[in-house]
Amino acid sequence: EQIKKGSYDHFMQKEIHEQPHSLTTTMRGRLKDGGVLLGGLKEHLKTIRRCRRVVFIGCGTSYNAALAARTFVEEMTGIPVTMEVASDLLDRQGPIYREDTAVFVSQSGETADTLLALDYALENGALCVGITNTVGSTLSRKTHCGVHINAGCEIGVASTKAYTSQIVAMAMMALAIGSDQISTQARRNAIISGLTSLPSCVSEVLKLDAEMKELASSLIDSESLLVFGRGYNYATALEGALKVKEVALMHSEGLLAGEMKHGPLALVDEILPIIVIATRDACFSKQQSVIQQLLSRKGRLIVMCSKGDASTVCPNGSCRVIEVPGVADCLQPVINIIPLQLLAYHLTVLRGFDVDQPRNLAKSVTTQ
Ligand code: AGP
Repeated sequence: EQIKKGSYDHFMQKEIHEQPHSLTTTMRGRLKDGGVLLGGLKEHLKTIRRCRRVVFIGCGTSYNAALAARTFVEEMTGIPVTMEVASDLLDRQGPIYREDTAVFVSQSGETADTLLALDYALENGALCVGITNTVGSTLSRKTHCGVHINAGCEIGVASTKAYTSQIVAMAMMALAIGSDQISTQARRNAIISGLTSLPSCVSEVLKLDAEMKELASSLIDSESLLVFGRGYNYATALEGALKVKEVALMHSEGLLAGEMKHGPLALVDEILPIIVIATRDACFSKQQSVIQQLLSRKGRLIVMCSKGDASTVCPNGSCRVIEVPGVADCLQPVINIIPLQLLAYHLTVLRGFDVDQPRNLAKSVTTQ
C-alpha cells in the first residue's frame, strides 16, 4: 500500500497533488485542431443538439461536478439544463421524456441510486449519456454513449481528482455539442486555450498547501464551517463543505450567497468561520457586497479571491485571504476547489481522523 502512495502519507493527499497529471490525461487527444473530439459522443451529437433539455443526474461529489458544469453547458448549447440528485428523482418519479438527454455522472459507475435512475430514464426513452471514471462499469455499459474521464484510479473515499476531471470532461462535452454555433466561436477558442493551460494553473494553486495547513490549524477546534459561493462557484461551496464534513468530521454547509439574507445571516458571529468564494467573474461585485454585509456583523471571514485582489476584497485586512490564480470563469471551479480539498485533508490529519476511510462511508455506495 505504501508503494502505491509513493512519497505521500495518504491516498487523498496523493490524489489531490496528482491533479495536474489527471487533468492532462482527461484532455489527452481530445483537444484537436482548435476543437474538441470526444469519440464516445460523436455519433450522438446531432440528437443531443435537438433535445428539449439536458438533465444532469448524480450523487454527492458527482452531482456537485455536474452543477459546476451546468452554466457552461447552457451557455454553449442554448439547451436548458436541469439538475437531479438521483435518489430524489426516484423518490419523486420526476418527469423524464423521450426528448431529454439524461447525463449520468458517477466516478465509480456503480452507485446504486444513479444506476436505478439510469434504468428509470431508459424506460422513459431518454438518450442516456454516461460520464464516468470506470471503463467497463455498469454505467458505461448501460448508457447509449458517454465520456470516460480518464482520471486514473481513485482510492481515497473522498473524491478529489475525479471531481476536477468530471468538470473538465463536461466542459469539453459542452464545447463539442456547441461546436456548430458560429456566434460562440471566439468564446470556444478562449476556453480551449484555457483548458490547455489549466494543468499548470493547478500546479500553481497546489503551492498553497502549507498555507492551507496553517489555516486548518486555526480551525481545528471549530464546531462548524460555512462556505458561501454563487454562480459557477456555488458548486465549489457545496463540494468544499462536503469534503470537510466527510473526512474532517466537522459540520460544514455550502450555501448560495444570494440566499444569505434569507436565513443564514442569523448564524453570523465572531466565532463561526465563514469562507466566501469571491474570485473574478460576473458575480464578483455581488460577492463584494456579501463580504461587506458579513464584516459589518463582525463575521470571521476567510475570503478566496483572484491573485492581486486581496486588498480589493478585504480593504483593511479584516479577513484572512486565500489568493488563487485566475482562469476562464467556467474553469475557475477547478482551481477554487483545490485549496478547500487541501484544507479538508489537513483538518482531518490535525484532528486525528482516518483520511482515506472516513467512518460510516464506502467508496462506492452500491446499496439504496
Ligand atoms: C465523494 O467524496 C463522496 N465519497 C460521495 O459523495 C460520492 O461522490 C458519491 O457517493 C457518488 O459516487 P460516484 O461518483 O462513484 O457515483
